[in-house]
Amino acid sequence: MKKSMTLIWLVVAAVISFSLDSDCFARKRTKEPVYKNSAASVEDRVSDLLSRMTLEEKLLQLSQYTLGRNTVENNLGEAVRDVPAEIGSLIYFGDDAVLRNEMQRKAVEESRLGIPILFGHDVIHGYRTMFPVPLAQACSWNPEMVRKSCTVAAQEAYSCGVDWTFSPMVDIARDPRWGRIMEGYGEDPYAASVYCRAAVKGYQGDDLSAENTIAACLKHYVGYGASEAGRDYVPTEISDQTLWDTYLPPFEAGVKAGAATLMSAFHNISGTPATGNRYILTEVLKEKWGHDGFVVSDWDAVRQLVNQGMAKDAKEAAMIAFNAGVEMDMVDDLYKNHLPELISEGKVRMEQLDDAVRRVLRIKFRLGLFEHPFASETPQEERYLFPESVALAEEAAAETMVLLKNEGGILPLNPECNLAVAGPVALSREVHNGNWIARARAEDVITVAEGLEKEFKGRILTAEGCGFEGDDRSGFEQALKAVRESDVAVVCIGHKAGWSGENCSRSTIEIPQIQIDFLKAVKAVGKPVVTLVSGGRPLDLREVVDNSDAVLMIWHPGTMAGPAVAGILDGRYNPSAKLAVTFPYSTGQIPIYYNRRNSGRRGTQGLYKDIQSEPLFEFGYGLSYSTFEYRNLTLDSDKVSPEGKVTASVEVVNTSSRDGQQAVLWFIRDPYSLITRPVKELKFFEKKMIPAGESMVFKFEIDPLRDLGFVDRTGRKYLDSGEYRIMVGGLEAVLEVVE
Ligand code: BGC
Repeated sequence: MKKSMTLIWLVVAAVISFSLDSDCFARKRTKEPVYKNSAASVEDRVSDLLSRMTLEEKLLQLSQYTLGRNTVENNLGEAVRDVPAEIGSLIYFGDDAVLRNEMQRKAVEESRLGIPILFGHDVIHGYRTMFPVPLAQACSWNPEMVRKSCTVAAQEAYSCGVDWTFSPMVDIARDPRWGRIMEGYGEDPYAASVYCRAAVKGYQGDDLSAENTIAACLKHYVGYGASEAGRDYVPTEISDQTLWDTYLPPFEAGVKAGAATLMSAFHNISGTPATGNRYILTEVLKEKWGHDGFVVSDWDAVRQLVNQGMAKDAKEAAMIAFNAGVEMDMVDDLYKNHLPELISEGKVRMEQLDDAVRRVLRIKFRLGLFEHPFASETPQEERYLFPESVALAEEAAAETMVLLKNEGGILPLNPECNLAVAGPVALSREVHNGNWIARARAEDVITVAEGLEKEFKGRILTAEGCGFEGDDRSGFEQALKAVRESDVAVVCIGHKAGWSGENCSRSTIEIPQIQIDFLKAVKAVGKPVVTLVSGGRPLDLREVVDNSDAVLMIWHPGTMAGPAVAGILDGRYNPSAKLAVTFPYSTGQIPIYYNRRNSGRRGTQGLYKDIQSEPLFEFGYGLSYSTFEYRNLTLDSDKVSPEGKVTASVEVVNTSSRDGQQAVLWFIRDPYSLITRPVKELKFFEKKMIPAGESMVFKFEIDPLRDLGFVDRTGRKYLDSGEYRIMVGGLEAVLEVVE
């Protein structure tokens, strides 16, 4: 009895307390602003917050300042000591979550509305664990690897307080003199589109608000890679047709994959600078593609409209960029300084200002910043270089190194053999991280010499031989002695990390003469020569090829350079990379790329009289230790209607005794069309492991409009009826599109 009375009282008390609680809750709810309610929709939260903001608060949301110091010397912006608590975003050049959180606390606790700051950073090919540079990643033909590398980068960056990366860079680049060719995915719009989607997915995951995901930023919108003569920041000449068929596709793919933001580029597009270009920033991006995130200018790009001759002064620059569709002003503070006056003069509309702020807030809400504004302050070793990340970095490095020559099957080497490892790259750590290294450290890198020492059982003699440049030959003799005492010479030459990247244009793509002379001296010893080439751009490798038995393009492979190289040299890895960018025969051929249009004069078109007219290594070139044969290209129908589907199949046989991965690249050709088209266009690729002696069928499911269609100069996608060629591995089939 007593027991049941107690029970009744407990129930009554619980009911009273519940109704009091829910009453409090209800009262609290009515008082709590909608924007603070995580259960409300993002759009409702944005509208509510926007309705509470003053003009100054809005303008600060559209401003980005810096905090800390960059690792790239082009942007040594002064750290803003007195950052306002209402600032929209900071480029945060640190890996110190404590500093970042202090700044965030100021925003969340001291500003009137408590809007968290968005912390951005250039996380381009890794944060602390470095992956190969993007151009190398493109040679893997493995978008899943690209996705995973971006996932690791996102995890490491997130754990240090980064919310937003200025990546992926999806500028199509066909001029290897341009240093930034290294930051993108090569010369082909389709390949760049696939990798772009993979990178966005890797950074953003399925849910931007989840832990370890960061917002992506597609850059540099658009056509920056068309820089004349490969000189950085200079004007470009891009026709509307080329804009649509070459430069815009990767951006469209990234937008459709949900990229939160884009960055407007520095350059001038045929008379209209990208940062003041309403057509691309508003008509295409927002009106046609429906992007609902925001555009940030490149560094100081709004002010640069004055230097470019588009705006008469800073105020006009702010007006032009803002009205064109650049929502956030990176570092030059012109929006905050000039938009109030421009609004009062009626030159900037309040509705557009609200739309811009809405876009920035939308991304902040989607990131979950209002719920989780602070980064965890775990010890550094708990944030990066996890064993699985480092293992992935090694696999990625091995999968991106392109075997360009393997005379007489000299590779793989017997791990028992004695090696002389020489050249400026042999002992260097810095070279492997490449440019744009976020918080990477040279000391984390495993050198080529260390990798080989660990993996090979024979004796390893190391010597630098020579520097990257200059005239000093005093190290030659010691290196040559090592070569004489060894079975094989591994010569490690190429470009330094800082020779590609932003503001790293070069007038030639040669390797400095001292290194070529060193290689020739090694070759003259008479031992087999395996040459490893570092670099962030296609290089003139004529003399390298002539003076080596094997050539492996290792690019800037990242933290795990040494183990990846060693694994390839002894056959633990079977090379499977293929060039995603053409290697010219010499600088004089630039620009040269596979998907050019035909000229009228068959046979004599585009020929040089003094050098060969074909590139040294074409797009898609790359050897394996296995050999493959393509057979039986078939179409399940040789006619298709525009709405129909057709599947092309090819059998790929591994004719060797070694398992190997093969990337199968499918091209199409439209032989005649009113808007003439490239001689070959990549439309699909797939990579699979084919066991020794076995064959596999690869399929390309053709959607006529998507894969055979083209785009006109207004961006309209269309499909001509008539004949098309389907091409794979030297085979060709004819497909007819019938009405
Ligand atoms: C580069 C961008 C980079 C930005 C921020 C600029 O100079 O062009 O690619 O994201 O700086 O560091």
